[in-house]
Amino acid sequence: MRILSGIQPSGSLHVGNYFGMMKPAIELQERGEALYFIADYHSLTSLTDPEVRRKNVMDVALDFLACGLDPERTVFFRQSDVPEVCELTWLLSTVTPMGLLERCHSYKDKIAKGISPNHGLFAYPVLMAADILIYDSNLVPVGKDQKQHVEVTRDVAIKFNQLYGETFVIPEPEIRAEVATVPGLDGQKMSKSYNNTIEIFGEAKALRKKIMSIVMDSRPIDEPKPDADQNLAIKLLKLVAPPDLARECEERVRAGGYGYGELKKQLFASYWDYFAEARARRAELADNLDYVNSVLEKGAARAREIATTVLKRARRNCGID
Ligand code: ADP
Ligand code: TRP
Repeated sequence: MRILSGIQPSGSLHVGNYFGMMKPAIELQERGEALYFIADYHSLTSLTDPEVRRKNVMDVALDFLACGLDPERTVFFRQSDVPEVCELTWLLSTVTPMGLLERCHSYKDKIAKGISPNHGLFAYPVLMAADILIYDSNLVPVGKDQKQHVEVTRDVAIKFNQLYGETFVIPEPEIRAEVATVPGLDGQKMSKSYNNTIEIFGEAKALRKKIMSIVMDSRPIDEPKPDADQNLAIKLLKLVAPPDLARECEERVRAGGYGYGELKKQLFASYWDYFAEARARRAELADNLDYVNSVLEKGAARAREIATTVLKRARRNCGID
């Protein structure tokens, strides 16, 4: 079985990325050959500073390795080290109906936010389809917001297979129900674009301040709160605290008498502990960038081996070999 996922190098990774995509992806390493990549071609659709892109690519590499990606077991690489994926994007584009792309929520959301779209942003799901199909991937662990893109991938693969004969493996998305959408500091989906993130490797003082600034309701401390499970700090605490502690805090909020300030202090402490080991590992890796680069190079070589075979198959089947 082959497992594949990608993440854009568009800024510091946050707790939503971690629980929605990275943690499931890291756990799936056990179940087959996993390929995880840093989607730098994708980042061109929204980020135009070359130096920032280079820095972000390295940051994502450090973050992912620090969080437990095992390069002995998993193929970890930079998307652009496998340029074959761009050729496959073109082959797939020619069988992708416009309507399929016009319906994509992620594109429509970005337009609604006032982003002036380029063709790359519109065609992005086709590049993502090529990312997935070029490695004969079976399973694609992503957060809920990417589900539609995996569905587009399936539709495009089925269409190509119908037109040109069996070429691509049809992939399945893998979405964890319990962390499908991690809420951000304002209760909306945690996202870089909403400025409501808790970074995985943030700086202690700034992060404490962010967490203490979570806005809560204004009911008196002593009032019992039957909706404690809907409390934002409790929802986040359940992700990072030992289950017993999270349950105890939830019960204390429910019963009344437990102040929100105390609750937020607990949330910060639990968050800080949860990522302590990864933080130490990240510091070691940051002192050893040659090692990180060698991991990416080795990953690219293996990824390219697979990609070349699948691209050859696609070229042959559509008659441009
Ligand atoms: P952002 O919304 O911050 O730009 P990305 O779109 O780069 O995040 O997402 C990278 C990966 O992390 C995707 O698989 C996405 O589904 C997942 N992800 C991002 N935010 C969340 C969240 N709040 N909850 C769950 N998964 C998330
Ligand atoms: N579009 C994904 C995101 O923004 C990143 C991505 C690119 C991806 N190609 C992929 C995810 C292939 C899974 C599979 O989060």
